[in-house]
Amino acid sequence: MAHPTDSTDALGFLRLAEDIAREAGEMLLAKRPGMSTASGDIETKSSPTDVVTALDKASEQLIRARIQAARPGDRILGEEEGEAGGDSAVRWIVDPIDGTVNFLYGLPEWAVSIAVEVAGRIVAGVVNVVPRGEVFTAALGAGAHLSAGGLGGERLRCNTGVPLERALVATGFGYGAGRRAVQGEVVAAVLPRVRDIRRGGSCAVDLCSVAAGRVDAYYERGVNRWDYAAAGLVASEAGARMGGLNGEPAGPGLVLCAAPDLFEGLHDLLASLDADRDA
Ligand code: IPD
Ligand code: CA
Ligand code: CA
Repeated sequence: MAHPTDSTDALGFLRLAEDIAREAGEMLLAKRPGMSTASGDIETKSSPTDVVTALDKASEQLIRARIQAARPGDRILGEEEGEAGGDSAVRWIVDPIDGTVNFLYGLPEWAVSIAVEVAGRIVAGVVNVVPRGEVFTAALGAGAHLSAGGLGGERLRCNTGVPLERALVATGFGYGAGRRAVQGEVVAAVLPRVRDIRRGGSCAVDLCSVAAGRVDAYYERGVNRWDYAAAGLVASEAGARMGGLNGEPAGPGLVLCAAPDLFEGLHDLLASLDADRDA
C-alpha cells in the first residue's frame, strides 16, 4: 500500500499506524500467555506492581521496525525504549501494550496504542483493543471511528447532557504506593458525587470508552504521553474535551476527559480535591 510522504497527510499516517497496530495485535494474540500469571518473562519497573513482559518489548520492537521501514527519518517515542530517531517533525508515540496487568491476567482490557504527532500536534491515533477485536481510529479533523470484528467503521460521538450526579466515571491508579494513597482519597470523595466509578486498567481503552459513550468521563493523575496520545485524539474527535486542572493542558499532572458540558463540573470537583497532588 502507499504510505504517506506528506507530513500533513493525517489519513495516510492513520492507515500506516492502523496496519502496524493490527500486526502487533496479531503477534500478541498468538504469543500471549495462557491462564497462568507465573511466567518467567516478567520484570518490574518503577515499583513491584509495575510489570513489563517480554511481549511488551517484542511488541514495541515490531512497531519500531515497521515504522522505520516505512518512514526511516521519523522520531519514535515508545514506553519501553524511550525516544530515538532523526530530526523529522514527525514523531510516533507508542504504548506497545496499554493495560499490561490485564494482559498478564487474561483480562480483555488491553490495547496497542500508536499516535502520530506532526510539529507537536497529534494528527492520527489508533487504539487496537486486541482481545475484543475492536480498533478505534481518529484523524485530526476527520472524526473518530470504531471498527469491530472486521466490519466497517462506526462514527463515534461521546455522551452529552449528562449531569455530574449521573456520570459514570472511569479512572486509574499509578504504580507507586504514595500516589495511590492520594488517588484513593480523591476517588473516595468523587464516588458519592457521581453515578459510579470504573477502573478498567487501560488509560487508552478508558479514553476510547468516553469516545464511544461507554462511560461519561475519565480522569487520572500520572499517566504518560504514550498512554493518552492516540486515545486522546479519538476522544476529542468524538466531541469530548481533554484537559488538565486549572487551564493546564492534559498531561502527567492530570488527564480529564468528558463531554464539554460535564467537563466543567468534574473539573471543579477534582480541582477542589487537589487531584493532581502527590503524598
Ligand atoms: C497503565 C494503564 C493503567 C493506568 C496506569 C498506566 P501500562 O499503563 O494505562 O490503566 O492506570 O496509569 O500506567 O503500564 O499498562 O502500559
Ligand atoms: Ca500504558
Ligand atoms: Ca505499556
